[in-house]
Amino acid sequence: MVKFFLDTSDIPCLEHWQKTGMIQGVTTNPSNLSKVGGNPTTTIQAIIKLFQNKDVSVQVTETDPKKVYEQALEIHDLGPNVVVKIPCVTDYCTIIENLVSRNIKINVTLIFSPLQALVMANLGVTYVSPFIGRLEDDNQNGIDLIKKISHIFSTHTYKTEILAASLRTVNHIQDSILAGADVVTIPPLLCEEMMEHHLTKQGLAQFFVDWKKLNTEIFP
Ligand code: E4P
Repeated sequence: MVKFFLDTSDIPCLEHWQKTGMIQGVTTNPSNLSKVGGNPTTTIQAIIKLFQNKDVSVQVTETDPKKVYEQALEIHDLGPNVVVKIPCVTDYCTIIENLVSRNIKINVTLIFSPLQALVMANLGVTYVSPFIGRLEDDNQNGIDLIKKISHIFSTHTYKTEILAASLRTVNHIQDSILAGADVVTIPPLLCEEMMEHHLTKQGLAQFFVDWKKLNTEIFP
């Protein structure tokens, strides 16, 4: 199953999409938490509660390795469905290995190359997050990155899942999945957009018109 995560910390928006059943998890980061304002811990606690039994990625904000480790443990303790998100930094490898050995789910963020993804998969992390939009801002092919990671992971049967992040268009979503992403994390606006098709709207209007011609009040 390919999973759809929502890439936001906006509670009303998350409440709306949670009800649809379309969403299998959430990714947050310091930027989207900063955008919604307020107390970030309260926001995260609300998201964890709203998406019980679904993975919610919460990113560390410390930079010193020892502090990152301590903060990762605190984030993990926030709830059973929390995935600790840690940036792809060599200095954090020891920490990541240690957290994985404690059965803590890790999402390694800011992945921009197949080798970064491979090193993190060797440490046993649950997700690697390649950033498509930001790579394309840098005039590189984001979808190609997913293809390469997917090829390596499937050739060598890694369990680590590819979580396509920094998606800016509906084509990014579709192409990431076709390239082998296990999860796509989607900004809310794209969630709306990906479900729309003018032929669906047109077909619905036609069915309505044709049905009215029958003048039937009771059915079935
Ligand atoms: C999700 O885990 C990432 O933090 C997010 O997709 C980054 O998106 P951006 O590049 O649009 O900030």
